[in-house]
Amino acid sequence: MKEYARGARCEARVIGLVPTMGALHEGHTALVARARQECSRVIASVFVNPKQFGPKEDYKKYPRDLEKDAEKLAAVGVDALFAPEAADVYPDGFRTYVNVEGISERLEGRSRPGHFRGVATVVLKLFEIVQPHFAYFGRKDAQQVRIISEMARDLNLDAEIVVCPIVREADGLALSSRNAYLSAEERKAATVLHRALAAARNELASGVRDAMQLQTVMRRILEGEPFARVDYAEIVSADTFEPVVRVARPSYAVLAVFIGKTRLIDNLLIQPPQADSDELLFQL
Ligand code: PAJ
Repeated sequence: MKEYARGARCEARVIGLVPTMGALHEGHTALVARARQECSRVIASVFVNPKQFGPKEDYKKYPRDLEKDAEKLAAVGVDALFAPEAADVYPDGFRTYVNVEGISERLEGRSRPGHFRGVATVVLKLFEIVQPHFAYFGRKDAQQVRIISEMARDLNLDAEIVVCPIVREADGLALSSRNAYLSAEERKAATVLHRALAAARNELASGVRDAMQLQTVMRRILEGEPFARVDYAEIVSADTFEPVVRVARPSYAVLAVFIGKTRLIDNLLIQPPQADSDELLFQL
């Protein structure tokens, strides 16, 4: 892959990288489609990264279907697929990790210790191998892409991080490889995540700025669903992922909810109506 990417650079190609863990769905292919529009060489990676799974998490049973993934990627016009083996990515004696302090310890990081260290480490490795001009990530994992952007800034990486919108099913459920774990009944129940987020956004639109009040609205809806168990449901700064007291700037409503045994995450970028926002030019 290093040789391939070097060749593309020598031909003055604009290289776009789309890192994934496979079991690809339209959320992933939307990233590839965006890369295809903006780059002349599009490389996708499929690698279920053991370093970002906790010891009790689903690393072993995470869905894998490389053949189908390759077909989907070919259909959206990827130039190259990078699908390394874990033993090649992490040879014996591997002991260098990237940790983006602070933000990595909150929310997902608190529930999944070491998760973001694993993510940042593998993403930096992928960037070193491919040396992309642009790298594409989904806002589905809003905290993840924020951490990767901080890493890119802190370590002077050349890759520009492009954030793409969340792709959802018609009923609001965000596409996720883990949706495959849901039974038919659980799949119905899983719409509760988006319903809770939309309720928070509607409350904000109707004038409620108090974050506790917005959280309570989300929790009430989540608790009304018998299959759902809340891990976290918070309103946080879109910049730092610290909790906010009042929504005066762009913020995320963020959720992690178990539906049965399956842990799902989702989020919604919320902002106060322009009239009382002092940050009209805030860009994420
Ligand atoms: P994975 O969960 O496979 O996701 C790969 C990329 O697809 C991420 O940037 C994620 O945010 C994006 N994505 C997933 N579902 C989406 C949806 N419904 N809408 C839009 N984008 C979506 O995230 C990872 O893999 C890994 O942590 C990785 C970055 C590859 C490092 O191992």
